[in-house]
Amino acid sequence: MTNAELTSLRSTAIPRGVPATAPVYAAKARNAVVTDVEGREYIDFAAGIGVMNVGHCHPKVVEAVKDQAALFSHTCFGLIGYESYLRLAEKLNQYAPGASAKRTFFVNSGAEAVENAVKVARYATGRKSIISFEDGFHGRTYMTLSLTSQVSPYKIGFGPYASDVYRIPYAYCYRCPLALSYPACGCECAGLLQNAFDKHVNAEDVAAVIAEAVQGEGGFIVPPPEYMGKIKKLCEDHGILLIADEIQTGIGRTGKWFAMEHWGVAPDIMTTAKALGAGFPLAGITGRQEIMDTVHPSGVGTTYGGNPVACRAGLAVFDIIETEGLLQRATVLGDRIRDRFKALQTQYPVIGDVRGIGGMAAMELVEDPGTKKPAGDFAKAFRSRLYENGVVNVGAGTFHNVVRFLVPLTIEDDTLAKGLDIVEETLAQVSKSFPGS
Ligand SMILES: Cc1ncc(COP(=O)(O)O)c(C=O)c1O
Repeated sequence: MTNAELTSLRSTAIPRGVPATAPVYAAKARNAVVTDVEGREYIDFAAGIGVMNVGHCHPKVVEAVKDQAALFSHTCFGLIGYESYLRLAEKLNQYAPGASAKRTFFVNSGAEAVENAVKVARYATGRKSIISFEDGFHGRTYMTLSLTSQVSPYKIGFGPYASDVYRIPYAYCYRCPLALSYPACGCECAGLLQNAFDKHVNAEDVAAVIAEAVQGEGGFIVPPPEYMGKIKKLCEDHGILLIADEIQTGIGRTGKWFAMEHWGVAPDIMTTAKALGAGFPLAGITGRQEIMDTVHPSGVGTTYGGNPVACRAGLAVFDIIETEGLLQRATVLGDRIRDRFKALQTQYPVIGDVRGIGGMAAMELVEDPGTKKPAGDFAKAFRSRLYENGVVNVGAGTFHNVVRFLVPLTIEDDTLAKGLDIVEETLAQVSKSFPGS
C-alpha cells in the first residue's frame, strides 16, 4: 500500500487523538535510515524519540531477539523466572549512579516505570506528596500526567488528576523563572524548592522529588552544574527521596550512562525505558537496595514486565554501548550538531538558543531574540518541511517552539553530515516565508 492509502486507512481505523506528524509509513529501517512503503529514504534524527540509540536493526539486537523468540517469548517472570531479566537488572544496578547496593525490577513503558517509582517512594517513606518540575514530562497515565507540566496537548480535557502533586519551576536558564542570569544568579532557582516547602507543602509530607536531569519533552533544558546537588541536598535535609527520570536521558544518550552523572548526583530511585530495549517495550525501576526492598512480596509487578525478548535486546544494548564506545560517540555527535546549529544561529535570528548535552541537541525558535516570543508557527513549518526534505525530527517545548535532535549514536559520519545539510537548506527555505527570521 502507498503512504496515501495508509493515511486513508488510518482515518477510518484509528482515532484522531493518536499523534501523526507526517503521512509517512515505514517499510524497513537500518541504522539511521528509515525507508517508507514507497521506497523513499529518511535520515532518522529522532531515533523513535531517543529509543534507537544503537540504531535500527543492529545485528546484535536482531540476533538476540531471534534467538530468544525461538526459545520462549513469555512465562511471566513471577511464575517462572529467566536469566536475562536478572542479568539486565545486574547491569542497571552496576551502572546506576552512586556506590550503594541497588535493586531493579522491570515493567513495560516509561509511564509505568514512573508510576512504580512513585509507589515505591511512598511505600518506603510512608509519605504521600510528590514534587515535580515545570516543563517536565513523565508520561500519559494518570499519576504521570499529574506530574507532567505541559498542558497542551497532554492535559487538556483529561482531568481530574492525582492529588498531592506540587510543581516548581526548573532551572530553565534561557527563560529564567527568576529573571536572573547564570552564573551571577548563584543558581538561586534551586531555592524554589525551599519556597515550596514554605508555601505549598510540608516538607515532612513529601515522599519524593522527581526530576529529569535534562528535560526532554520540555526542550532539552540543561540546568547549571550546581543545580542538582542543591536539590539533592534539600531533599536529604528533609528525608525526601530524589527520583531521577532517566527515561529519555539514560542508556548513554548524554555521553554518560545516566545524565545525573553529569551533576555528580546519585538519585535514590531511577527510571529507565526508551533506549533500554532498543524498540522492544521495556522499562526499569532501579533504586537503593534498602528502599526497593521495603515493598512486600508481590507488592509490585505486571504480566509482561521484563519480557524475555525485550531483556535479551536490552542486554545487547549494553554490549553494543560498551564495545562500540557509544558514550564517547554521543558527545562527539552532539558537539558536531550543536556547533553547526550555533553557526546557523549567527545567520538566523529565529534560532534563539542552541542547547543540549551529549547526544541531545536542540534549537529553540523565537520570533525575536530580544523578546524571546516563541516561534511556534515557524517550528511547525520547519519540522514538516524537514520531513518533506527527508529528515525525521521531533518537536519539544511547552510552546512547541523547540526542535530536538536525537540521532542514533551509531549514525555514520556521512549520514549525519547529509542530514545536517538538509537541516540547513530547510532553514533557508522556511525562513523565506517568515520575514525577519
Ligand atoms: C522523561 C520521560 N519520562 C517518561 C516518559 C514516558 O514514557 P512512555 O512514553 O514510554 O510511557 C517519557 C516519554 O517521552 C519521557 O521522555
